[in-house]
Amino acid sequence: MRVLAFSASLRKGSFNSLLIKIASNVARDKGCSVDLITLSDFDIPLYNGDIEENDGIPKSVLDLKKKMEDSDCLIISSPEYNYSVPGVLKNIIDWVSRAKPQPFKGKNILLMSASPSMVGGNRGLWALRIPLEGLGAFVYPEMFSLCVANEAFDPSGNMKAPARSKSLADNVEAFIMSIGKK
Ligand code: FNR
Repeated sequence: MRVLAFSASLRKGSFNSLLIKIASNVARDKGCSVDLITLSDFDIPLYNGDIEENDGIPKSVLDLKKKMEDSDCLIISSPEYNYSVPGVLKNIIDWVSRAKPQPFKGKNILLMSASPSMVGGNRGLWALRIPLEGLGAFVYPEMFSLCVANEAFDPSGNMKAPARSKSLADNVEAFIMSIGKK
């Protein structure tokens, strides 16, 4: 199983980037080949219909689209900004959705989030389901949200609480198994 994984935060000390790293390791332990990418490597401009009309879809967007096409599923860890999807991620979804065929259709996606808040960024994931499901993705029903993320990791980036760590591993494993059954 080929997994494409990324954090939707560009911040160096991102909790979502720590979380997606752990989720990627779980998926590898389960036998998946995981491509953990960093969105800032793709240098994707803000969506502008004039760029698309005059120059076509940027190569950086097509490169990301290809990564999606080359994977069986996606795991995304996204912050919640103002109860919703961060602009960085929505911009990427909008750009990639302009490609034909757009790669979200029929794609299995697992969503997770991390936030210092008590809700763990979970409301943002419900908002994120809308564009992804609108594009025809199969978004896994269970979503993992890590609350009080600012206290959740040790200095090596591992999750301190074994129960939370197990809950994440169970979620990733159940997602992978669900795809195998399709
Ligand atoms: C936030 N944050 C935030 N947190 C939350 O739980 N609910 C929210 O609605 C918001 N809104 C919000 C808006 C903006 C513009 C920023 C910059 C931040 C806090 C956010 O969860 C926190 O900064 C996380 O640490 C972001 O994730 P990374 O960068 O650590 O992965």
